[in-house]
Amino acid sequence: MDFSEFSAFLLRRCSVREYEPEPLTDEDIHTIIASAGSAPSAGNLEAWDVVVVTDEDARLALSDAAFGQSHVAGAPALFVVCANYVRSMSQYGERGILYAVEDATIACTYMMLAAHARGLSSCWTGAFEDDDVRDVLGLPPHSRPLAILAVGKSHAPVQRTERMDIENHIHYNEW
Ligand SMILES: Cc1cc2nc3c(=O)[nH]c(=O)nc-3n(C[C@H](O)[C@H](O)[C@H](O)COP(=O)(O)O)c2cc1C
Repeated sequence: MDFSEFSAFLLRRCSVREYEPEPLTDEDIHTIIASAGSAPSAGNLEAWDVVVVTDEDARLALSDAAFGQSHVAGAPALFVVCANYVRSMSQYGERGILYAVEDATIACTYMMLAAHARGLSSCWTGAFEDDDVRDVLGLPPHSRPLAILAVGKSHAPVQRTERMDIENHIHYNEW
């Protein structure tokens, strides 16, 4: 892939919140997660976990945990990506909390882009009650849910959202 293809690939991705009911294949699920396995991580500790949720009752419960967001119930598969504090803190102490969050965020980004590369649509979902997600999924205390990545097939057109001018992000040599 050359850079213009890479750029076009990124620009074709957008958050989609309406999905066909058709389930993901096992290969879809496996390859999406396997892609995250190649993500960088602090100390190569891979301080992240994912709970794949396809069960309808669990998806409804997670939608409730996400303040009723309907795309969470409507997506045929949810990838709940969690930071694994213990794995990172065992090596890095307090700094490991930040590293675990970073590891899980990168892993979720890879999953989102892998879904896109497979022609699937997704929506990164961060608005939810942590404790409710914990209860639904039975997460251990050292695991923090960071994102519910909703994934499914969709025929919705690509809808680009506005971005601020990139120069607003950049500081040269000093702030
Ligand atoms: C950390 C994070 C949290 C988000 N939480 C939600 C959410 O709870 N519900 C939702 O519909 N979209 C959520 N989004 C998606 C954003 O609204 C979306 O990425 C943004 O508007 C840019 O649009 P685009 O993804 O189509 O480029 C979230 C995205 C990120 C990165």
